[in-house]
Amino acid sequence: MRVINNIHLNKLDLNSRIVMPPMATETSDNGKVTDALCEFYRVRGENPLVGLIITEHMYIEKCGQASRGQMSAAENSVVDGLKHLTKTVHEAKPGLKVIAQINHAGGRTTPEITGCEKVSASAYEYNETTCREMTVEEICEIADRFAEAARRVKDGGYDGVEIHSAHGYLLCQFYSPLTNRRTDEYGPQTMENRLRFHKLVLEKVRIAVGDEFPVFVRLGGCDYMEGGSTEEDAAEAAKLLERYGADVIDVSGGMCSYRRPDHTEPGYFGSMSKKIKKVVSIPVIVTGGVETLDQADRLVEEGCADLIGVGRAILKDARWTGK
Ligand SMILES: Cc1cc2nc3c(=O)[nH]c(=O)nc-3n(C[C@H](O)[C@H](O)[C@H](O)COP(=O)(O)O)c2cc1C
Repeated sequence: MRVINNIHLNKLDLNSRIVMPPMATETSDNGKVTDALCEFYRVRGENPLVGLIITEHMYIEKCGQASRGQMSAAENSVVDGLKHLTKTVHEAKPGLKVIAQINHAGGRTTPEITGCEKVSASAYEYNETTCREMTVEEICEIADRFAEAARRVKDGGYDGVEIHSAHGYLLCQFYSPLTNRRTDEYGPQTMENRLRFHKLVLEKVRIAVGDEFPVFVRLGGCDYMEGGSTEEDAAEAAKLLERYGADVIDVSGGMCSYRRPDHTEPGYFGSMSKKIKKVVSIPVIVTGGVETLDQADRLVEEGCADLIGVGRAILKDARWTGK
């Protein structure tokens, strides 16, 4: 069994290659950590197969909140709760690591939740409301908010931070040609332009957390939609993100979200992650459809990824046995 082994991951030692990926529980109290949240992660952390937990997406500012029960990394007042959560997870099992995912929902917010005007890469309609194209000044401000959130994550005792650029949220909206129709240097004309915002975020986050703190990027590499981003784009993007300072690429879907249209096989993003793995030297995680350790093992063996996410199986059964 390859997956249940110690692995030294760029800046992080893990006891297993099985990752519990971020899954929104909607159980925060106005963004703050609750006992229910701690318990949810504690029981899953006790699972001997899990080497790394990436906690559910947290909003970096109120205007980027995706849903009512979402966790917050938007204010300093959340840090004590985060410390409680990370202490609980670290005590669940020796060697277990925990990373926090931070996010801005962009055009996928709703004004009823945020009280803000919706902004995105370009003006488009989603959920019956239209969003406005962001100015370059706003892009810089939101990059600052990412950095501040990452610093709170570090202060909260996490072992690393993951920047969410998948599932159609703000950074994914800049990456995807379906939602980015800008004509400036953040537009869809080149990969550098599509990732210029990501580069800024990575630079600012790195300054905020320092060189030794692991920074992952969850890349919604392919939209699997007509006119959207492709698997080839994903490989090109991952190479650039590595150059911009990402320590790990966590592969998932873009505008199609975490499901791949017409695919349910174990590791259904494996064809994309394999292309990525061939061109980067940093570790790659792939998630989607894996329910057994044998399936996870096979994906590692086939060179699709270094780490394997197991989401819904562990959500359903905290004591998932991998059988
Ligand atoms: C209820 C639920 C909530 C999710 N929340 C997040 C999230 O906060 N951030 C994220 O990147 N992915 C999220 N996902 C996607 C999962 O991380 C994962 O990619 C997806 O469940 C596919 O993996 P699986 O087939 O192993 O379940 C969520 C999935 C589910 C089912």
